Amino acid sequence: MSAIRMDGKMVSAKVRGSILDEVNRLKERGVRPGLAVIIVGEDPASQVYVRNKERACEECGFYSEKYALPEETTQEQLLGLIDELNRNPRIDGILCQLPVPKHISEQAVIDAIDPSKDVDAFHPVNVGKIMVGNFDFLPCTPAGVMQLLDEYNIDPKGKNCVVIGRSNIVGKPMAMLLLHRHGTVTICHSRTQNLKEVCAQADILVAAVGKVDFVTADMVKEGATVIDVGMNRKNGKLCGDVCFDEVNEKAAYLTPVPGGVGPMTITMLMKNTLKAAKLHAG
Ligand code: GUN
Repeated sequence: MSAIRMDGKMVSAKVRGSILDEVNRLKERGVRPGLAVIIVGEDPASQVYVRNKERACEECGFYSEKYALPEETTQEQLLGLIDELNRNPRIDGILCQLPVPKHISEQAVIDAIDPSKDVDAFHPVNVGKIMVGNFDFLPCTPAGVMQLLDEYNIDPKGKNCVVIGRSNIVGKPMAMLLLHRHGTVTICHSRTQNLKEVCAQADILVAAVGKVDFVTADMVKEGATVIDVGMNRKNGKLCGDVCFDEVNEKAAYLTPVPGGVGPMTITMLMKNTLKAAKLHAG
């Protein structure tokens, strides 16, 4: 039997609808959420993401500004722009698309954003707040995964949850959110021994590896929920980390790529920006 497809497009449309309703109510108080998106350089994947973020802002009724800076922008110039945006009252959220060019320190960029405008939730202040379970913003991709699990009534409580990948953006915060929801969480990575066996114990398996066809059917427990966070290209086509066709026959729930976690990530960015606007409005 095939797995139930977890439809991120459908869930996203629903959440964006409720964000738009709230934005319309805020309008009466003269509040309009504003997001600034910065992109440095010409990375084609980043350009697609940034375009999708701008579209999502329109759909949700947000004010948005886009800053497309050339590859040779200096760190000082970028930090200068972030400083201006930190002080701009029309802007509630600031997102600098990663990766930035090699001559710019990613951490310096993250540290420069006012934590109250850090809608990625990458600033150490926000990372710390997530760790202790008292946060304003959740990191977008893990938050999108949690919302998808909730929509399909999949409760991590007491379950074996295995996250493959330990990035600051996805793997580590994903593990933390599953832990907050009482999952028994294991983080696997490139040095993990017996990776297949560990994954095959998972009731909820989250793949955030960045490698095409990394998760095969022998790594999946019968009836598991498999969440594919991968965004890879295979012969020019967008695909995830999971061998969809074979895992589809073994899992109970599975996210497609595209149309699974991807749309949820941007929707969570919108949710964070709305939250920032409400915090700034008081
Ligand atoms: N690059 C890939 N994913 C992300 C993300 O969630 N936020 C930012 N700022 N850059 C990214």
